[in-house]
Amino acid sequence: MPEDFANEYSMHTRTCGELRSGNIGEEVTLCGWVARRRDHGGLIFVDLRDRTGITQVVFDPDTAKDCFELGERMRPEWAIEITGFVRERPEDTANPDLPTGDIDVVVNECVILNESATPPFPLDDDIDTDETTRMRWRYLDMRRTPVANALRLRDTVTWSIRNALHERLFVEIETPILGKSTPEGARDFIVPSRINPGHFYALPQSPQLFKQLTQIGGIERYYQVARCFRDEDLRADRQPEFTQVDIEMSFVTEDDVMNMMEDVLAEVFEAVGITDVSFPLDRVQYADAMAIYGTDRPDRRFGMTLVDISDIVRDSGFKVFSGALANGGVVKAINAKGAGDWPRAQIDKLGDLALEWGAKGMAWIQFRSEGKVNSPITKFFSDDEIEAIKAALDVEPGDLVMFGADSAAVVNEVLGNMRLHMAHAMNLVEPGTHDLCWVVNFPMFRYDEDEKRYAAEHHPFTRVRDEDLDKIESDPLACGSYSYDIVMDGFEMGGGTIRIHTPELQRRILRQIGMTDEQIDEQFGFLITALGFGAPPHGGIALGLDRLVMLIGGYDSIRDVIAFPKTSSGADPMTGAPGEVSRRQLKEANISINM
Ligand code: AMO
Ligand code: AMP
Repeated sequence: MPEDFANEYSMHTRTCGELRSGNIGEEVTLCGWVARRRDHGGLIFVDLRDRTGITQVVFDPDTAKDCFELGERMRPEWAIEITGFVRERPEDTANPDLPTGDIDVVVNECVILNESATPPFPLDDDIDTDETTRMRWRYLDMRRTPVANALRLRDTVTWSIRNALHERLFVEIETPILGKSTPEGARDFIVPSRINPGHFYALPQSPQLFKQLTQIGGIERYYQVARCFRDEDLRADRQPEFTQVDIEMSFVTEDDVMNMMEDVLAEVFEAVGITDVSFPLDRVQYADAMAIYGTDRPDRRFGMTLVDISDIVRDSGFKVFSGALANGGVVKAINAKGAGDWPRAQIDKLGDLALEWGAKGMAWIQFRSEGKVNSPITKFFSDDEIEAIKAALDVEPGDLVMFGADSAAVVNEVLGNMRLHMAHAMNLVEPGTHDLCWVVNFPMFRYDEDEKRYAAEHHPFTRVRDEDLDKIESDPLACGSYSYDIVMDGFEMGGGTIRIHTPELQRRILRQIGMTDEQIDEQFGFLITALGFGAPPHGGIALGLDRLVMLIGGYDSIRDVIAFPKTSSGADPMTGAPGEVSRRQLKEANISINM
């Protein structure tokens, strides 16, 4: 048995990454691409590259004249096959930077498999080619080690998740792509039905309802590596199509789902060599996450937490603060330790950012390291008030304290963002370190100001906490839910809930988010009917696979871990999607374009 399959089922007998001094004297056949060609006084050296690495091959006219002539013609990215003998590199020519640097291969047979056009950018590991160009030529980009490694990491992660779930008796089930709208809070992509004029499928925002139906179907443990489609504004961590590890279980509580997920993630982290995450993970109450970090996806790898100083400044002479409190708001502050000596212009820039994030202003106090205090607002406070602020924020010389005074929502948003901004600016996070936690017990509803109605905070299939069942209509914003997000390094990496499993409660919740009984029957009649056939208590979770791989690999964007990603305008620069379609296709789909 071979040790591995790298050279099975292949034209090559060895890969370009594996030859060492122990192979000297062996005859080998290698296949790959010309990475670099050097002409050296009668000899031609080619760095031959395949998926595993680079081997130097030597064309010597005295060994094989015909091969040497081919070697003279070769250009970067030509695909070639060579056969030759492995030899020790002549003294002083070994390359310690290359794992194969002690040897080279002297060619005695050579086939040009395919010539190549000149690549639009160098296919080296370190390049500064812009991302759109790399996306347009993604198949060339993929020949570069960092890109190929990202795809391999993704495979390792996916494979270990599948393995862990399969071992735990989960069944992978595919659900339809052409379906009916499942609301997850984004717009649907819709697909016209040719044979049902005027009717449309919606691509799934997630397999949510189908996975619940598998539980009503008695499958008990479902999973799927599922493609999801959401027409929303794109960001570094959002693509219009992305992949979820989608999971659903019956006869479970929140603890069961979270424990299962932790066990699976422990196996994944072991597979990828992450050792600084210990289980069980902390469970942070949603309300605490918002109060302390200003966000429901806290990055806890650094401090600078939000401190409520409302009680200290309630009666102060600073009208901005006392006014915000009189209006039912809060005053909070963060202490950026070590930013106390920042120049004024830089602090003003922070203020501009705060305005962009929705603040009306950003008061600050600079405690300079030599002891001086600079601030536009200290004159409004008594010495006692200043001392109390210093004590609450653990202020030392060299610190910069920034304040937010507004509704709790605005203050949390602004100071939560400022906290992340400062951590980034001050390099407070050690690269390669990780922090995971659960954020639990989200509210069931939020009020949607644009639509003037209540909306489900997660989705409307989430179960309201038993103790809040009598408040659904009378005090919806006070209703909690059985819900849990898993947060990794400040990103929402996954989320799930225990579901409603009775028709009556499902109808109540849908009514509460503004649906009429008629709309409920039209859109979700099939679900409500199904819940009426002895639906088991059930719940689940979905991990954002792209985000998980991005965070494990330390990439800046999920585009880095997607083979063929889309740009921020949802386009694929390689294929040109989205594109126009022919008149005939439009006619067949019964669509006319009005623009
Ligand atoms: P949710 O909408 O929270 O839950 O999605 C689950 C996870 O999917 C990832 N994600 C995305 N990743 C990339 N691009 C996007 N546009 C995008 N949108 C979401 C996130 C997120 O945590 N059906 C429920 C799950 C459940 O209740 O079981 C759902 O889809 O990492
Ligand atoms: P003013 O008295 O309006 O000039 O404000 C004095 C300081 O308070 C300035 O630094 C403002 O940026 C800041 N400020 C104004 N409104 C707020 C607010 N809502 N929250 C925090 N700081 C504010």
